[in-house]
Amino acid sequence: MQEIKTLSSQWYCDQEIYQRERREIFAKEWIYAAHESELPCAGDYITLEIAGYAIIILRNSEGHLKSFHNVCRHRAAPLLTAETGKLEGKLISCRYHGWSYNQEGCLAATPLFEELPDLKRAELSLYDVQVNTYRGLIFVNLSAEAIPFVDAFGSLTEVMNDSDCSLESYKLHSKLTREGSFNWKVWLDGYQECYHCMTIHPIFNKDFALQKYKIENVDRFSIHSCERKVESPSGSFNGLWLWVYPNLGMPCYEPCYYTLRVNPLAVDRTKLEYTFHVRDTEDTKTIEEFRQFVDQITSEDINVCEAVQKNLKSGIYQDGILNPRRENGVAYYQSLVRQAVEQGGPVKQARETALV
Ligand code: FES
Ligand SMILES: [Fe+2]
Repeated sequence: MQEIKTLSSQWYCDQEIYQRERREIFAKEWIYAAHESELPCAGDYITLEIAGYAIIILRNSEGHLKSFHNVCRHRAAPLLTAETGKLEGKLISCRYHGWSYNQEGCLAATPLFEELPDLKRAELSLYDVQVNTYRGLIFVNLSAEAIPFVDAFGSLTEVMNDSDCSLESYKLHSKLTREGSFNWKVWLDGYQECYHCMTIHPIFNKDFALQKYKIENVDRFSIHSCERKVESPSGSFNGLWLWVYPNLGMPCYEPCYYTLRVNPLAVDRTKLEYTFHVRDTEDTKTIEEFRQFVDQITSEDINVCEAVQKNLKSGIYQDGILNPRRENGVAYYQSLVRQAVEQGGPVKQARETALV
């Protein structure tokens, strides 16, 4: 089998590469944003940040989802500041000087701006964000030239539709947010393999036949699978565990499925945003045990990711070698990231080694 190199340490520490990732990946791809049940009624909204881009998602008075950058066209103040809320009237108003926009994002009011009667209001609409849903999952895309949702997710939705994982039978239960000092890809490197599970996650080791862990890379998503040894808080069926380019993890277990958005805050800081969805039939004890299971695994991963990031920064390590069978998921997603970042030109190599 052919040797595959990891991305070099530079890819985890360099500000320029990080900014390229924001522009070439996070501002161009469909990013998981929220679940429809988080904004069920007209006027409900949520705000969020994706790799530093501030976004609003609103259910407008017709009941349709709209999305905009949360940036006022006057002097860039955020328009809505609560994480979730309901519009007080029909307009989205900026707290700073009171400019207001209708629910289509068009500029509707500019208080005390009479000196400029010819202001080209039509050119001052909110910056639009594309929004699309799949079985309750809301995705946004910041690019006006976004690849159509159906093209981006055609094969993924086929796999999900064919699986036993019926998303509609789960209800939004709770959220969990954790942060750590590591580049977003350090987390994904771990997410995209279970080679580390035997050593880092004793609980996984107990439940699953980890030698048989498999990852199938499909079409900008990966399907993880593994035989189960015993029933446990994670349930009894083998589940559907997905990774979706660029930053969504979505493991579907029996009592619960969760979405995990791996959200970069800075080149060396990442937020992990979990949303849990549970089956109606599950009792609170099972759910609590499941959340504890995820929390424990997350803590174990955060510890190792922070330690790895420190070493990536220190200047000794340049790059490593991936196991073609056990780390094929890492190789696949890294190839997608590299391709996206380098389409604007190759990354300039940092100097070979710091050991001189
Ligand atoms: S920045 Fe929004 S009204 Fe001035
Ligand atoms: Fe892990």
